[in-house]
Amino acid sequence: MPSRIFRDKNKLSPRYVPERLPHREKQIENLFSIYGDALEDIEGFLLKVTQVVGDVGTGKTCTVLRFGRIMEEEATKRGINLQHIYINGRLEGTSRFTLYQKILTLAAPAISARSLSPEEMLFHLLRYLNSEGKYLLISFDEIDYFCKRSKEHIVYDLTRLNEVDPTSPCNIIGVIFIARDLSYHSLLEPSELSTLGRGIIEFPRYNSEQIKDILADRVELAFNPGVIDEDVLEFISDVTVRPPINGDVRVALDILLYSGNLAENLGSDMVLPDHVRRVYGEMYPRITSSDVEGLDQHEKALLLGFARTLMASKSPYASLREIIEAYRVTCEEYNIRARGDVEEIIQNLADKGIIEILSLRKIGLLNAPAKNLEIFLDAIMERLRGDLHEGG
Ligand SMILES: Nc1ncnc2c1ncn2[C@@H]1O[C@H](COP(=O)(O)OP(=O)(O)OP(=O)(O)O)[C@@H](O)[C@H]1O
Ligand SMILES: [Mg+2]
Repeated sequence: MPSRIFRDKNKLSPRYVPERLPHREKQIENLFSIYGDALEDIEGFLLKVTQVVGDVGTGKTCTVLRFGRIMEEEATKRGINLQHIYINGRLEGTSRFTLYQKILTLAAPAISARSLSPEEMLFHLLRYLNSEGKYLLISFDEIDYFCKRSKEHIVYDLTRLNEVDPTSPCNIIGVIFIARDLSYHSLLEPSELSTLGRGIIEFPRYNSEQIKDILADRVELAFNPGVIDEDVLEFISDVTVRPPINGDVRVALDILLYSGNLAENLGSDMVLPDHVRRVYGEMYPRITSSDVEGLDQHEKALLLGFARTLMASKSPYASLREIIEAYRVTCEEYNIRARGDVEEIIQNLADKGIIEILSLRKIGLLNAPAKNLEIFLDAIMERLRGDLHEGG
């Protein structure tokens, strides 16, 4: 049976590299300005080393993969045999032997690495590339992770590939090292730092607008039309940009996927804010029922009114005015004398991390789905009402 929600879930997988990478155009252009000349004069081009640096989930890996693909395609158009090789320093092991073996397998499967030392492997690789008229661009991802675990001087080797065989040209046009930050430099030898150079391309954290653009593209690929409203995307982007996620797009894509799954399992035709809240609350549980039980009656009344407002509107946010109104109604219902300084109650709840104030028109509930909270608070309020009656 075709899914009501999804068109193609794979488009949310971290392995999928979309053709368009919104807000990384400048980084791709930068890479192009470094390596693009190779396409004009491949024989005269000399090995260039670049570092790509940015926080978790800022698109380093996907941008470099995309750039590598663009280079391959442009090279093919010009009759140049150029291959982009991607190596991950966290996944491929800690020895130069296994890493270079991997490069050989990808670039020169004809060479058997078995009896060769790491140095010999590189030498044979370069010889092979020369004889085949083939060129490589090598990306080494998570170099920071690799350097922390391994004493092997891989940076030394890869930044001096042009010195391996001084008698012939080096057919490797570049090495791109990818890292979260530059702290791994302290683990390098001065000789490595000097050839590593200062060519750094920075990947700043995305802001919430940018995350929304990125997600909007993915939603179009992965979901059926009309299944996710714009304000749900905005909600996910707002949540993603703040701690503890801090802009990691990988997490935003997970939230999209899990919220879609949940919507589907619940038989909903759409992904609603409450699905997102529930997924988020399970990924980052912060408020517990005892937190809620510990609130005073005004805070409880406000939360209950708030939860009901959110349930009724299907929106991820309510405005200050709507919340004040809902609070008054709830107080009336439970015979509580409403307080005048409702902003104060809201601020207290925000300080406790239960609700989030983005602006006066955008106040959200993060960690608990409104539906659950409503049922839960309703029960507490009923008990409270019982207490009040007994007491009075
Ligand atoms: N600009 C973008 N456009 C589309 N998708 C993006 C963009 N930036 C990141 N993504 C997606 O977000 C996820 C994380 O991106 P990526 O793996 O490239 O991050 P990273 O910077 O390499 O993170 P890490 O430091 O954890 O390795 C991937 O699924 C990727 O496709
Ligand atoms: Mg990465």
